[in-house]
Amino acid sequence: MITALRGMKDMLPPRSELYEYIVKVCESVAKNYGYKQIFTPHLEETILFKRSVGESSDIVGKEMYQFIDKGENDVCLRPEGTAGVVRAFIEAKLDRAGGVHRCFYHGSMFRYERPQKGRLREFHQFGVECFGEASVYEDASIILMINEIFTRLGIKTTLKINSLGDANSMSAYRAKLLKFLDAHEGEICEDCRRRKATNPIRVLDCKVEKCQEIYKNAPLMIDSLSPEAAADFERLKQILKANGVSYEIDPKLVRGLDYYCKTAFEFISNEIGSQSAVAGGGRYDRLVEYLGGKASYGVGFAMGIERIMEIIGERDKEREGIYLCAMDERNLDFVYELGIALRRKFKVEISYEAKKLQKHLQNADSKGAKIFLCLGENEMKSDQIWYKNLLTKTEKTINLDDLEKELSGE
Ligand code: HAM
Repeated sequence: MITALRGMKDMLPPRSELYEYIVKVCESVAKNYGYKQIFTPHLEETILFKRSVGESSDIVGKEMYQFIDKGENDVCLRPEGTAGVVRAFIEAKLDRAGGVHRCFYHGSMFRYERPQKGRLREFHQFGVECFGEASVYEDASIILMINEIFTRLGIKTTLKINSLGDANSMSAYRAKLLKFLDAHEGEICEDCRRRKATNPIRVLDCKVEKCQEIYKNAPLMIDSLSPEAAADFERLKQILKANGVSYEIDPKLVRGLDYYCKTAFEFISNEIGSQSAVAGGGRYDRLVEYLGGKASYGVGFAMGIERIMEIIGERDKEREGIYLCAMDERNLDFVYELGIALRRKFKVEISYEAKKLQKHLQNADSKGAKIFLCLGENEMKSDQIWYKNLLTKTEKTINLDDLEKELSGE
């Protein structure tokens, strides 16, 4: 039997419906914040990710789906969405046009990681990117947007924030950190020695226990912020507080991608095991220029849709649609015609089998229908139909002539 590849999963109903529901909520909130949809290719030149996500990151170092195509091009399945959106922004010359551009996207991302619960090789993200806005109000708005999405989805998370400083903060901090790392060269792991040479701040993210013990005393970026970066971080905290969003400051939060500066954040859930980050993002003011565009501010986030699905499970899936059925075989033709007519306006599942009321009710319930309509012998004689709202549990008989009007009021 041919099966799906390791770490890649089919999404059949009802999981696919849950996916659709989550994306709908995300889109609706993002649109209220002024974001519009963008589509970019799943396949890009490898160099795009090497330059943006960074050679020192695990994503580029170990996890890329990279290959040479038939035209000898070095290409890669996108491991994340930001790099492609930035490329598209520059290619469409929007960096030269100026102004603020806000976009959202959702779809597959690919990382050749070791699969485990909550960690897939093909997974889906919903993300947003905003270009051309320097104000920290936008960083705050993005966090508030995620908060609103999670509130609507009924998900509880912990928000962790940090500042990674700006170009002015970085050189002073780098010097302090390198001095610290030199003093511990013999004790840190091999990966950290490599990180020290490529992107020292990344050592703080090391998962090796011995390294973590050493880094407890490491200098932190948050203590070396330039006055401008420090002022932005203060303002961010004030805006979050003023809007009732609680947060924890995590000075060791460095994120797994190289392009961030100033604001960095992650939303963590304690309901899904070790792969607990459900969303992450931050500011990337140097990335557009670094990828060959005109210097433009950038800030955004992405969330892992499968991880959200894991938390929600089936519990909150909204009931919807009509389940229409008959108890007597002789009424099936009538029910079928009625169902086809109702489908002009409503989502209707027609049962092609005559069954006892209880069996039909169980069926409608398991399919997640909201309205149950059943034609029994008595109703047929009096041109009526039996109605039950499976959410509110209201039951009644309705004249067939009034049915459409009744259903429109639901
Ligand atoms: P990221 O933190 O690498 O950020 O990924 C965002 C989210 O994608 C994670 O918080 C997690 O929920 C989900 N995720 C990541 N890897 C996997 C995996 N292997 N399986 C399942 N879910 C996963 C980014 O990708 C940045 N592009 C976010 C961003 C946008 N920053 C600025 N703009």
